[in-house]
Amino acid sequence: MTSANDSWLTRSRGAVWHPCTQMKQHETLPLIPIARARGPWLYDFDGRRYLDAVSSWWVNLFGHGEPTINAAIAAQLEELEHAMLAGFTHRPVIELSERLARVAPGRLGHCFYGSDGASAVEIALKMSFHYWRNVGMPQKTGFASLEHGYHGETLGALAVTDVPIFRDVYTPLLRHNTTVPSPDARLAAPGVGARAHALDAAAVLEATLADRHSTIAALIVEPLVQGAAGMAMYDPAYLERARELTTRYGVHLIADEIMTGFGRTGTMFACEQAKIEPDFLCLSKGITGGYLPLSVVLTTDAVYAAFYDDDPSRGFLHSHSYSGNALACRAALAVLDLFREGDVIANNRRRAAELTALAQPLATHPKVRNFRRLGMIWAFDIESAREDFSRWCFAQALERELLLRPIGNTVYWMPPYVLGAADAELLAERTLEIVACA
Ligand SMILES: Cc1ncc(COP(=O)(O)O)c(C=O)c1O
Repeated sequence: MTSANDSWLTRSRGAVWHPCTQMKQHETLPLIPIARARGPWLYDFDGRRYLDAVSSWWVNLFGHGEPTINAAIAAQLEELEHAMLAGFTHRPVIELSERLARVAPGRLGHCFYGSDGASAVEIALKMSFHYWRNVGMPQKTGFASLEHGYHGETLGALAVTDVPIFRDVYTPLLRHNTTVPSPDARLAAPGVGARAHALDAAAVLEATLADRHSTIAALIVEPLVQGAAGMAMYDPAYLERARELTTRYGVHLIADEIMTGFGRTGTMFACEQAKIEPDFLCLSKGITGGYLPLSVVLTTDAVYAAFYDDDPSRGFLHSHSYSGNALACRAALAVLDLFREGDVIANNRRRAAELTALAQPLATHPKVRNFRRLGMIWAFDIESAREDFSRWCFAQALERELLLRPIGNTVYWMPPYVLGAADAELLAERTLEIVACA
């Protein structure tokens, strides 16, 4: 007898081309049709449940069906769902821009909107290049980025991404940029600490900028954690040096906080932990709590002023149809309300301490290497002979009511900020069961 799940997944296989997927693998790999969701739990059509331990690709900060965000979107629907943002403006986009400028590090008072993470990266890269052109330095056309960095799948973002599985096929389409070593603490030589390794990586950045700054517009980084590299964490000293060096050599610093923003690393923004102010801050993912696609690039008065002119070609003539969508902005305002009213960062500190304690048997397990945590991100690498470890682990997790999506041999948790004590226990225990048979 076919289950309700079966009929949905047959239809999905026939009509939906799923992202980041070799579709043939779904001949054997589960594809789960989700019927509804609440808090940290997803439910399929057959009534099975899955603990969303990765916040659905790192977006659902407050879990699913969050009542404040639900209510905010419903109220906004009664007023305005969307109006184009060229030539028009509206209350949610104005309020959101003002509030983001207040919570963001430094003096980033100008917000330019896109729809997803990659579009924010494209905006920041184009804006940086165009800034230098407008101030009389048109030769600054290149970008520097970190080894193993990830900034999205569109061609500009992929050109500053260094994850072979996503990038290699498209290399002929990509502009060549400069890649500098990653400060990933796991790459430190034996006996070298995370900070010393970060400073060694910064020394190479220094030599690179000294040599090529006249042609480099910006350095783009994922502050403190390189997500798609396998939750590679690094010391804030790298960011401090990167800021000093980019300032010294007249190169913009683009902080891609698409993953790290909104409390994920234990502070509202990861840049705060290095006390740095970027020239561009890219935000997306958690900005709407996982409800609606929205991204934004915040930048400084100096950048904004370089575009402000009688000549249209000196303006930033970039657009997306859904820029500053009113429903998405209202969801983002509700997310900021939750931060303001819920003492989220402090509560997460307690939640993180509890889950870290529960994870001790994992941290010391003989198959586990490099157990690490920052804020509400936990990650560890598994020593396993299985070639298909990540797919095997994904399937094993589903059987145990968990949504885990390892990156290579790195298992990570990035749970929503509403994870309760019982669910945290379940997550730690069942992940340990999987690791034990890896
Ligand atoms: C750091 C970072 N930048 C950019 C992106 C791209 O965002 P999107 O998938 O919304 O295009 C991601 C997505 O994982 C990311 O983690």
